[in-house]
Amino acid sequence: MAAHLLPRMLGNVLLLLRSLLRSSGDGLAPAAGGGTGTLSEATVATDWKKNLTPGQFYVTREKGTEPLFSGIYLNNTELGIYYCVCCNAPLFSSEKKYNSGTGWPSFSEVYGTRGRDESNTNIMRRPDNSSGSIRTEVICKRCDAHLGHVFDDGPTPSGQRFCINSVSLNFKQGSGQ
Ligand SMILES: *[C@@H]1O[C@H](CO)[C@@H](O)[C@H](O)[C@H]1NC(C)=O
Ligand SMILES: *[C@@H]1O[C@H](CO)[C@@H](O)[C@H](O)[C@H]1NC(C)=O
Ligand SMILES: [Zn+2]
Repeated sequence: MAAHLLPRMLGNVLLLLRSLLRSSGDGLAPAAGGGTGTLSEATVATDWKKNLTPGQFYVTREKGTEPLFSGIYLNNTELGIYYCVCCNAPLFSSEKKYNSGTGWPSFSEVYGTRGRDESNTNIMRRPDNSSGSIRTEVICKRCDAHLGHVFDDGPTPSGQRFCINSVSLNFKQGSGQ
């Protein structure tokens, strides 16, 4: 009796998912061909919420900021690599971590930088004009996670300060690859 209603119900669920995705606007590009593209994006969006803590989700997927002086890696001086908490891409090395006094973990350089060339690193820069100031957002190249911002008041020789949320990172002791 109800069996013939099922395809229509599934269709409605798909439409709902599609409009939810469209309105979320959080770095999710609209599906080019619809159909399966839309479905896999819906799966990805759901997985982030399932696999991250609310704090990790807020910062990495909703461009939040952790409270200053609260992050677990702020005072971490151990030697190792900081990976993306979402996709595990190596992002920063303890070698370039320094105490900026700002209340967030700070790095003067991205892991994999050669000279000033960041093309082999796992971060991307993006202009961020939100909150009334012009800043440069730092995101994970692999998974689009929001990590923090980069400013040009860092220590020499790079002169850069990558101001990064602890909650977007996962630290592992050792020298990485
Ligand atoms: C890190 O050190 C600063 C300065 O000593 C202190 O105010 C802060 O509470 C510490 N934060 C953490 C998370 O350990
Ligand atoms: C942000 O501001 C800069 C400088 O005014 C401008 O060049 C850029 O186009 C703006 N970006 C966006 C996305 O509005
Ligand atoms: Zn990532």
